[in-house]
Amino acid sequence: MSKLPKQVKIVEVSPRDGLQNEKQNIDLETKLSLIKRLEQSGVKNIEITGFVSPKWVPQLADSVQLCKSIDRNPTVNYSALTPNLKGMENALDCGVKEVAVFTAASESFTKKNINCTIKESLQRFIPVLELAQQNNIKVRGYVSCVLGCPYEGEIDASIVADVTKNLFDLGCYEVSLGDTIGTGTPLKAQTMLNACMDVAPIEKLALHFHNTYGQALANIYACLEMGAGIIDSSVAGLGGCPYAKGASGNVATEDVIYMLDGMNISSGINLNKLIETGNWISQQLNKINGSQVGKAKSP
Ligand code: HMG
Ligand code: MG
Repeated sequence: MSKLPKQVKIVEVSPRDGLQNEKQNIDLETKLSLIKRLEQSGVKNIEITGFVSPKWVPQLADSVQLCKSIDRNPTVNYSALTPNLKGMENALDCGVKEVAVFTAASESFTKKNINCTIKESLQRFIPVLELAQQNNIKVRGYVSCVLGCPYEGEIDASIVADVTKNLFDLGCYEVSLGDTIGTGTPLKAQTMLNACMDVAPIEKLALHFHNTYGQALANIYACLEMGAGIIDSSVAGLGGCPYAKGASGNVATEDVIYMLDGMNISSGINLNKLIETGNWISQQLNKINGSQVGKAKSP
């Protein structure tokens, strides 16, 4: 039986996932303007940057400056990636109120992305969560490669569920399940989500689909039918991971909102304003808009 939700929480990841893979220099003003425009479109949860090593992800080297420059709207949750204690300390220094730790269901990807094993990554997160708890900071967890790995191929759903359980046991309030390379298809997405629902309630599980193979909306719909209510997405379909060869954009937020609006599922986001934002950032980056809805509804 379908368990479609009445409303969905959208976590907009474009300032982080969307921009981290861009080779061209993107100035601070453009990043701040993107965040402001997203807020004005009604987006309430925005992942704004990552406190990661600038040697590993040069595009996010301005994370401290960005967080210090943001004109915070009290009704918006701003979050940032923190791979280790150093990242967490930097995030705290500039007033971040929510962070995200990230690991994967694949050993090879974890090594390439954060230079450690899955087990070591979880150990690294212990002091991050301790410091966060002492400072009332919410911590989200990410599991990457939940439906496939660029180095190991198919990933067993039981490994995804196991890593997810570990993240909740550490104290994460929500875990986002990432199809990093976008190879997943709807029934596999449902099997994976089902396995994770054995370790956590659906209300705490987010879906993070990349659209590399054009499957993201179908996968999201399949998960909505199971009652999922938290979706990560990126305006204009920006996105990709520098350490996952071939990984391209996240599902476009405009496409998700168009689908949700059409099913009377509320998100609080104004589609027209979001489309303007998607067109604007595509122009700034000199890229073709990666949103189908953005393209269809633009002059
Ligand atoms: P490492 O080289 O093993 O780190 O990198 P280390 O602890 O050996 O330190 C080496 C140097 O880095 C030292 O500086 C540290 O101070 C510095 P040095 O002494 O050489 O001058 N350092 C840092 N600097 C700034 N911020 C920090 C930090 N930590 C150490 N936090 C590390 C390990 C985790 C830092 C590195 O691998 C890294 O930053 N990786 C991040 C990769 C990344 O951001 N990937 C993309 C995000 S994940 C993703 O996109 C997937 C997702 O979207 C979901 C999905 O789609 O599946 C979330
Ligand atoms: Mg991603």
